[in-house]
Amino acid sequence: MPDRYAVIGHPVTHSQSPWIHAQFARTTGQDIEYLRLEAPLDGFERTLDAFRAAGGKGANVTLPFKEAASRYCSELSARARAARAVNTLKFAGASRYGDNTDGAGLLRDLTVNLGRALTAQRVLLLGAGGAARGVLAPLLEAGPQRLVIANRTLPKAQALASEFAPARDGTRLQALGFEALGGESFDIVINATSAGLSGAALAIPVSVFRRGALAYDMVYGRETPFLALARASGAAAHDGLGMLVEQAAESFRLWRGVRPETATVLAALRAR
Ligand code: ATR
Repeated sequence: MPDRYAVIGHPVTHSQSPWIHAQFARTTGQDIEYLRLEAPLDGFERTLDAFRAAGGKGANVTLPFKEAASRYCSELSARARAARAVNTLKFAGASRYGDNTDGAGLLRDLTVNLGRALTAQRVLLLGAGGAARGVLAPLLEAGPQRLVIANRTLPKAQALASEFAPARDGTRLQALGFEALGGESFDIVINATSAGLSGAALAIPVSVFRRGALAYDMVYGRETPFLALARASGAAAHDGLGMLVEQAAESFRLWRGVRPETATVLAALRAR
């Protein structure tokens, strides 16, 4: 019987993960099975327990269970601990190992697929919720010259900046409210807010995009008001589909010990 994996969430009907991992399995010659597991909102642990009891070897975790998943683990990677969230679970006997590949996926999409190194760059991270927290440590590790966390609710950005300050190395790390972005401009602007999901526009000035800026929305598959604003300013605008594929490849590597090639999967996913 092939090793069994799953994506667990609520809802998971539209998850692209089963398709992505099927491509990875095919191109690497790995014999795996990958399912969708919809857990009731109050039944995350119960659903995973049953999946493990039936021989499940690992899972990807999606909304709204990433924090619950970190509590489910017997061991966490350093980056999962920093993120306080787990998107990848690996099971072996009683051991439940949790990792977070979201930040690595974002960094790989930015630096490899989009060809933008972060060193010497001025980076603006919009949002201070779970999505922003999940990518902060890898962003700082990439060594940008300056990293500003801006959030509608300033105290949340300030709390995040002071928590990650010890890890910042040479980067100037700062928290700002949206209204303080007036005189600021950046080389890379990353939207980690959930505003795009509801079609809401962010109250940021168009001047945050420097000439030649790259704008990145972690949301994928739709033209968010953030991406539209970025395009109108002349910035190169990208959605988070590449991050989705790259975080999946990192999960696959953790489970199977081989990193699948991602470019053709990403191109095929875009064409779908
Ligand atoms: P997630 O874990 O997905 O990041 P979250 O923790 O609820 O979700 O955080 C959502 C983020 O999107 C927050 O930074 C939130 O800003 P606030 O902290 O001010 O609430 C941001 N967000 C959501 N809708 C927004 C909107 N319409 N305008 C600005 N920011 C928004």
